[in-house]
Amino acid sequence: MKDLLTISELSPEDIYALLDLASKIKADPDRFRSRLTNKTLALLFQKTSTRTRLSFESGMYQLGGRAIYLDWRTTNIHLGSLPDEIRCIELYVDAIMARVYEHKSLEIMSKAASIPVINGLSDKFHPCQILSDLLTMKEIFQDFDTLNVAWVGDGNNVCNSLILGCTQLKIPIHVATPPRYEPHIDVIEWVKSHNKSQYLKISQDPKLAVKESDILYTDTFVSMGQEDETQERMKIFQSFQVNHQLIKESTKNPYIMHCLPAHRGVEITDDVLDSKKSLVFHQAENRLHMQKAILLFLF
Ligand code: CP
Ligand code: NVA
Repeated sequence: MKDLLTISELSPEDIYALLDLASKIKADPDRFRSRLTNKTLALLFQKTSTRTRLSFESGMYQLGGRAIYLDWRTTNIHLGSLPDEIRCIELYVDAIMARVYEHKSLEIMSKAASIPVINGLSDKFHPCQILSDLLTMKEIFQDFDTLNVAWVGDGNNVCNSLILGCTQLKIPIHVATPPRYEPHIDVIEWVKSHNKSQYLKISQDPKLAVKESDILYTDTFVSMGQEDETQERMKIFQSFQVNHQLIKESTKNPYIMHCLPAHRGVEITDDVLDSKKSLVFHQAENRLHMQKAILLFLF
């Protein structure tokens, strides 16, 4: 495997191997200090970032390598052809991590490059986020055998990757979104064609979704690139807020997950985000350990 563009490219065994490696790195980071000596990673960003940028940048340093941050707008990618620019970038670095508006840009990069390309978020997927979230879930529950996950909110990039991660590992997931904001059709088709439909339920009912859930995951109602739709989305998503009342519908007092950045008082209330059951900073920390595992796995 050359690239990591989406979780469906990984087998369940690959995911378990990544979880295992990330746990080892987390337990004893010093053992891995010089694994990527003399390696360089280009970090190419079309959108802003806190966690993804820093976890990859620090991760590379902690593995003995280097990371170079590139803002899409201050490179000449926007002037020239993307494949030409990628063919030049790969002359200077050993791997590329990119955050893009259109997932198609990553596919073009992957085709043009002979070095690994890692998806640091696209409009369609956020695989690095969900791989590290699976690590968080494993640390809390030890295994995935009896776990039930709920997603309430927009069927967005994070949701698409969560569905792929959960169904790959046979974790039942119930996704509740407003009509027209369901997960990507390619994800639903992938689940069907890989005989994993028994693990995925999609509804428009947040209360039903949380009923049996051990984990309740949400994300922004307005992803980067959708700013023009803010007003409309605020109305449509009103009844999909993760708040105390919604949690009361669950028989299990679920753990709360959010990839951050969170819009407090919009998709999630302060009391829920700051509650003892909130895993948001645990998730943020695990980005670092999983990013390092992904880098070692691909190198
Ligand atoms: N969760 C996440 O990807 O955060 P950033 O957008 O800050 O990188
Ligand atoms: N769905 C959000 C995730 C941010 C990490 C976005 O794409 O903006």
